[in-house]
Amino acid sequence: MGFERAHRFDKFSVYGLNQMALLKIRKFPDNVLKEPAQPVETIDGNLNGFIDSMAQTMYAAPGVGLAAPQVGDSRRIVVLDTDHENPGKHLLKLINPRVVEAEGSIVWEEGCLSVIDFTADVQRAERVLVRAWTLEQKEIEIEAEELLAVALQHEIDHLDGKLFIDRISRIKRELYRRKLAKMIKEGKADGKPPSAVRI
Ligand code: NI
Repeated sequence: MGFERAHRFDKFSVYGLNQMALLKIRKFPDNVLKEPAQPVETIDGNLNGFIDSMAQTMYAAPGVGLAAPQVGDSRRIVVLDTDHENPGKHLLKLINPRVVEAEGSIVWEEGCLSVIDFTADVQRAERVLVRAWTLEQKEIEIEAEELLAVALQHEIDHLDGKLFIDRISRIKRELYRRKLAKMIKEGKADGKPPSAVRI
């Protein structure tokens, strides 16, 4: 759906970094994914390393977005990059992001780095206006539509302790729970995320 996964990142070439500090991605049903994250009170240089590690982890996965709770950190921080043709060029590092305006409606097939072997159509706002803080302590506004709008809403959901499977029908969610339980029992849940857009 408008996104080809043909391009795989060379994880060592992003930013020219030669050392990786990949974080462990938590998977459903890990409890940290259900906890609402806390606002960041102080933006200072201490966040740089952590946010860079989040970005590296997102590119390496590969995914188009990652929220701090997905790596076990309950702070309101997300990284996003929907431009996989030019990794790093349009990377967003957002602190305390929030949707201030939303309009329209769009259905997108979503996947998530924290939800293995499952994708589903999810209805979201088609366009959003998001306000967030940057590492430079500036408040910025992002107008987004289509994939970026979907990804922003998906990541901000993570900060509120919500997964995309909380936005599908109860029956579909229950079927997924059963499938996952069976996979875990059979030792097949190797943590491989699905091959759709993972955010
Ligand atoms: Ni996700």
